[in-house]
Amino acid sequence: MDSNKFDQNLIRKIRESVDIVEFIGRYIPLEKKGKGYFGLCPFHNDNNPSLSVSREKQIFKCFVCGEKGNVFNFLMRFKNIPFPDAVRQIGNEVGISVGNDFKAKPDKNKTYYDIYDIANKFFQNNLLSSEGAKAREYLKNRQLDMETIKEFQIGLALTERDSLTKLLTKKGYDLKTLDALGLTTNDNDAYVKRIIFPLYNTNGQVNGFAGRIYNGENINKYLNTKETAIFKKGENIYNYHRASEEVRKVKFVILMEGFMAVIRAHTIGVRNCIATMGTALTNDQINLIKRLSLNVYLCLDGDNAGINATINNGKLLEDNNCNVKVIPLSEGLDPDDYILKYGSEKFISLIDNAISYNDFKIRNLKRGVNFNNSTEKANYVNSVLKEISLVKDEIKREIMLKNLAKETDMWYNTLEKKLKDLLANQENAKIVANDFEKKPKKRLDKYEKAMQSIIYYMLENKEVITIVENSGVYFPIASYRILEREIAYFYEKYGYINMADFNTYIESNQEIDEVFKEIMGLDLDSKANEKTILEYLDVIKKYNVALEIKRLEKLIEDEVDLNEQAKIVNQIMKLKMGSENNNDK
Ligand code: UTP
Ligand code: MN
Repeated sequence: MDSNKFDQNLIRKIRESVDIVEFIGRYIPLEKKGKGYFGLCPFHNDNNPSLSVSREKQIFKCFVCGEKGNVFNFLMRFKNIPFPDAVRQIGNEVGISVGNDFKAKPDKNKTYYDIYDIANKFFQNNLLSSEGAKAREYLKNRQLDMETIKEFQIGLALTERDSLTKLLTKKGYDLKTLDALGLTTNDNDAYVKRIIFPLYNTNGQVNGFAGRIYNGENINKYLNTKETAIFKKGENIYNYHRASEEVRKVKFVILMEGFMAVIRAHTIGVRNCIATMGTALTNDQINLIKRLSLNVYLCLDGDNAGINATINNGKLLEDNNCNVKVIPLSEGLDPDDYILKYGSEKFISLIDNAISYNDFKIRNLKRGVNFNNSTEKANYVNSVLKEISLVKDEIKREIMLKNLAKETDMWYNTLEKKLKDLLANQENAKIVANDFEKKPKKRLDKYEKAMQSIIYYMLENKEVITIVENSGVYFPIASYRILEREIAYFYEKYGYINMADFNTYIESNQEIDEVFKEIMGLDLDSKANEKTILEYLDVIKKYNVALEIKRLEKLIEDEVDLNEQAKIVNQIMKLKMGSENNNDK
């Protein structure tokens, strides 16, 4: 995206209207540490808060994955949107309109979403048509009212095998595309005689359908869109876009197994629910969930499969630094059944009394254990101790240990000793793992460090730009040379300089993007005096001299004329003396 085309002053005005700490803080929890703010980086699987946000510089950076930039970059990466959209969105928020020439490149999948939009509207209309009577009846029996049907855009695929195919081909879309999108098979509609639940991507665009049987047919209950360019089952999360606002308010998200559960919860005002499509959580989904909140409540089905899924998903989420709680459902019910059977109040009180993931696991270990059988009992005690050893909070551990002693009628001291052994073993394992993970850091030579530092200070302080320009120094590495010129140019044109705006300005320049990101990530003293700058410039000058001497020495080797050789030797002598003189300074 070529951001040079855009009005730099407008971009600056918008950027300055938001504070990056406040802005990023809306998406991920940030904590103040020393000068900066830190949070878990949403752009990789972060285990320690490695995303640092600087109020002073109005930039963020991740120490681990290297992602960096200003508010626009954050939003672009976070929402996966192009630069103009990020500017427009923040502009709208602060009441600055960016005008019409500020358009995003057309989305390469736009046609696909257009098609899905048409299909979605078509299905919704079908449900309201006369052919939809049976389906409407079915939904009514399931206690889904018209408001809910509208909100979740529930529709109907007709009995006629080619109604959607006809509609879309008439509009000029070819069968090959429709096939690739999973809307047709063998030149006919893929969805026939099913109640349609549209699926959405995280931005709320319809990217797939789930079709449910409603007339007692003996076929697959749900038919889902196949994997397409815009729909990947393992990346999709149902209701993500609707839940996000509510999650920000209530500060936790509820993960369910299916969309019916999410829809039901919505009808009783519980609007912070999302669902996978009955599958195990993938890393992609976990990263998306973490963008909503680190507090995840699992409310999966109350049957055996649901309990196992709770254990597995809970572990995955905990390993990814989420705080996991469980809303256990009795009698094998799913949230939809539970709410219909026991009512909203009871369900909401279950949420309020959600238990910790550890307690849930222990509860589960106890299922079916015969305490009169000493082997079974010993196994149970050992596995509970192992769970307790994984709890970080010491006080919590003690409470759990006391409970275990009580329920198994064992000596507290015996249990405590065993727990200590377990903890010691874990500590050892950790030390070994840490040693293994230490990686050597890339080391810059002093010349490159000098160039980076100078660029850094040019962005911090306009006086440094003047000093560098006046010195006439030549940056021997192209990317730094380009950066230096671009900074000087930016300053000359706009009369000011800072990292956050310059970052937007050079966004499109692949050549310098990488080194610039490296420089943004430097943690240098915020103010440099002139002397330091001159010293850095000196280092670069010496480097240039050394390069030149090398070049000349090479020339001598190839030179046959003795006179010419002498001339070059002379030149080298001069250079060497010059650089020695510099040394004395
Ligand atoms: P469930 O079987 O629990 O369905 O599957 P449900 O959500 O309770 O739906 P109703 O109440 O029977 O209508 C949970 C999820 O698993 C996926 C769907 O995404 C569903 O929401 N699933 C289930 C399928 O993809 N295909 C199926 O045949 C069944
Ligand atoms: Mn159900």
